[in-house]
Amino acid sequence: MTLDLHQSFTFGTTELLPFSGLDEAQQQEVWRMRTHPDIAQWMGSGGEIPLEAHLAFMARQRERTHDFSFLGRDAGGTLGVVSLHRLDLRNGVAWLGIYRNPFREELGLGRRLLQAIAQLGFDRLGLHTLKLEVVVDNLIAIAAYRRFGFREEGRWREAILRDERRHDLLLMGLLAREWNNR
Ligand SMILES: CC(C)(COP(=O)(O)OP(=O)(O)OC[C@H]1O[C@@H](n2cnc3c(N)ncnc32)[C@H](O)[C@@H]1OP(=O)(O)O)[C@@H](O)C(=O)NCCC(=O)NCCS
Repeated sequence: MTLDLHQSFTFGTTELLPFSGLDEAQQQEVWRMRTHPDIAQWMGSGGEIPLEAHLAFMARQRERTHDFSFLGRDAGGTLGVVSLHRLDLRNGVAWLGIYRNPFREELGLGRRLLQAIAQLGFDRLGLHTLKLEVVVDNLIAIAAYRRFGFREEGRWREAILRDERRHDLLLMGLLAREWNNR
């Protein structure tokens, strides 16, 4: 890979700090966001993550070659977390992960995170498409993705178990040319 993804990036007013470079206070801030009920309820892997396990996960970030997460920040503080998972440079594909800072009230945090990760993925890495999966009843996230240009590309039926009920996962995607045409 020519572009080192264990570095910070700045896109307009948004800064992306790689998980591999976070200090312990920032690592703990990520844990507080990730385990907040507003965020955890939408994560397929749930929200019961002991701080110790989280810090061990953070300590392994530097070794990662195909999964890169960033703490997004602007002048107002932390925006949230945004990730490129399963990065496949040969095919120009990565899977998006995102959550906003649940301790910040204002609207538009998710939109700013999406803007920054699209610039990193499409403009800097030259990806062809960004994919994501979202539980079908996560209506706010689906609205945010549609608003940003993502289209529905399919679904995995009954792939998520939550509160003893099964839910479909909606698959969505955004192509570079759709991003360029915005
Ligand atoms: C998904 C998520 C990142 C979106 O970020 P956000 O900060 O809530 O969204 P924004 O304020 O940037 O809004 C972007 C768009 O989302 C939609 N949206 C946001 N809040 C909404 C709400 N309460 N009701 C309906 N639509 C909403 C709107 O279409 C909005 O477009 P607009 O600004 O033109 O009105 C955020 O809601 C989140 O972290 N959710 C919990 C974790 C999660 O679900 N992650 C995704 C898992 S796949």
